[in-house]
Amino acid sequence: MRVHVADHPLIAHKLTYLRDKRTDSPTFRRLAEELMTLLAYEATRDVRVEPFEIETPVAPTTGIKLSNPKPLIVPILRAGLGMLEGMVRLLPSAEVGFLGMQRNEETLEAITYANRLPDDLSGRQVYVLDPMLATGGSMVDAIRFLLERGADDITAVCLLAAPEGIAHLEASLADAGVPVQLVTGSIDERLNELGYIVPGLGDAGDRLYGVV
Ligand code: PRP
Ligand code: URA
Repeated sequence: MRVHVADHPLIAHKLTYLRDKRTDSPTFRRLAEELMTLLAYEATRDVRVEPFEIETPVAPTTGIKLSNPKPLIVPILRAGLGMLEGMVRLLPSAEVGFLGMQRNEETLEAITYANRLPDDLSGRQVYVLDPMLATGGSMVDAIRFLLERGADDITAVCLLAAPEGIAHLEASLADAGVPVQLVTGSIDERLNELGYIVPGLGDAGDRLYGVV
């Protein structure tokens, strides 16, 4: 699995404000969207394109356009929803599927409570959005869903990742048989005893949408 840490001062700057516990929800939402747009630039480096003939006012030339089928973007609810706008801003013609997942705060295992994806993902490039890769359980389950439906190229985009989550993803998807990559804004130090990323940013869903 290819892991790409988007090492850019603007990303580090925005992540710092996102992490700060004094940052309120409206600002947190705006920063999550902006960070996603910056990460999208890296995440879509290998997006599939095809040649496209055009004429400029001066001369004919060959450019490129996104290939069909268009990529599928899958935010993992709730917190992944906070990244969706930032991604579709860059890929407006992409389609969007949804997965709802919730981590049991005691066992740290993810349960899937919603699933609205095309049945057949053959030949599709898929971008899975979730701000936090902690134990990696939610992301592994999400990627398995996509593989079962035939996705043949998967990019996970996470604002923050824990080393434990990356190791879990690598071990669980070693035999995926299709390219899987992770693009993240930072690899943090570790998980704490409650399964939270350290230093992290706390509970991403609660900071975006409030405590439930
Ligand atoms: C958070 C986060 C990830 C998951 C990461 O979601 O958005 O989906 O935890 O943890 P993991 O890597 O250990 O699986 P949460 O379950 O809190 O749900 P929410 O998005 O609805 O708040
Ligand atoms: N989920 C979160 O929202 N934050 C963490 O630190 C870990 C899992």
